[in-house]
Amino acid sequence: MIPYKPIQNADTDPHDRQGFAHFMLKEIYEQPEVVRRCLATYLKPDWNSDRDAALPATPFNLAFPEALFAVAEIQIVACGTSRHAGLVAQYWLEQLAGIPTRVRSASEFVSAPFPLTTNTLTIAVTQSGETADTLAAIEVAKKRRSQSDVSLQSWSLGITNQPDSSLTKAVDYTLPTLAGAEVGVAATKTFMAQLVVFCCLALAFAVRRRVLSPQQLVDTIAALRLLPDQIETTLKQQHEPIQTVAQTFTDVKDCIVLGRGMNRAIALEGALKLKETTYIHAEGYAGGEFMHGPIALLDAKVLVIAIAPAGNVYDQMLANAQKAKTNGAPLIGITNVTESSDRAVFDHQITVPAIDELLSPFLTVTPLQLLAYAIAVQRGLDVDRPRNITKTLIH
Ligand code: F6R
Repeated sequence: MIPYKPIQNADTDPHDRQGFAHFMLKEIYEQPEVVRRCLATYLKPDWNSDRDAALPATPFNLAFPEALFAVAEIQIVACGTSRHAGLVAQYWLEQLAGIPTRVRSASEFVSAPFPLTTNTLTIAVTQSGETADTLAAIEVAKKRRSQSDVSLQSWSLGITNQPDSSLTKAVDYTLPTLAGAEVGVAATKTFMAQLVVFCCLALAFAVRRRVLSPQQLVDTIAALRLLPDQIETTLKQQHEPIQTVAQTFTDVKDCIVLGRGMNRAIALEGALKLKETTYIHAEGYAGGEFMHGPIALLDAKVLVIAIAPAGNVYDQMLANAQKAKTNGAPLIGITNVTESSDRAVFDHQITVPAIDELLSPFLTVTPLQLLAYAIAVQRGLDVDRPRNITKTLIH
């Protein structure tokens, strides 16, 4: 049994591995504390659901001007893992707050920016605050607006783990992600922190725009407060089984990660973690889209990972999994459905705690991080410093 090691003191030297074999593992284990810290910062401690839920009083510590809360559109630019956080946020901002939201790779935005729209919030997400493509994208966005003849009301917001970075100097507002320094090249805890910040932001918009019922707000805040313990439970209960699963797939060459809805972005993120740490050819797909061609890739040598949380997408994800099985692919399921006989479809099941589908990305990502880590270690790779990449891409 792998003993669970809680990390509570965020102020210890980030360059001390604290007994962990690698920084990546230490940083995965720091996630419960990172979420706790972010929630303590972005949720008002004195907000009382019995007293305040039906009032316009917001539970969030986000000091934006009122006009910003009335934006007509949100545009998100980012790279790599930070872009995946933006893709999860797109669901939250659209489905929870009803704000049309677009996400584009910062490098693509530079040559093909979104059309100029009025009343728009541009959000740049970067843990380092120094990624050249993301900085270039925010500059392009600002320049185009300043050169436009039409009066286009707009704001820029940076979400970053480095409050004194080039990004913070370039934007109107900054929301720090408070993850502490991340040493491992693969982003883990900074991604988790980006999700917390985005989730609070989307909820704050939803509250201000009166599109969330008081009961939904109370339930979601209560669910957010459970997250640190639930991530801890996932680490405690799943680290060892994931290591065993990783042994089975150490030599796999191809892997497909499937997810739907919010977990499509987690499928992309899981595939990216596998690519960069294990060098396995891994692709993330939306479960529905996968059926339109890529399914031809499947055979007994291609590992399929299905992210199947309870909720709207569960049955469809199970249909995806069933199809993969029919095609002979070995199958790992990440789910929180424990009582259904359907789940016998998975060759290996990784169970995460029960949670509303809306918040499920917080729990489905950790098993994928642990799996990538465990396979990389078993392959004897330098997990903290994968080949060909650096922590921050400044060109
Ligand atoms: C993946 C990873 C990269 C970064 C990307 C953006 O684990 O770390 O994909 O997410 O290079 O970096 P930041 O967030 O610093 O802009």
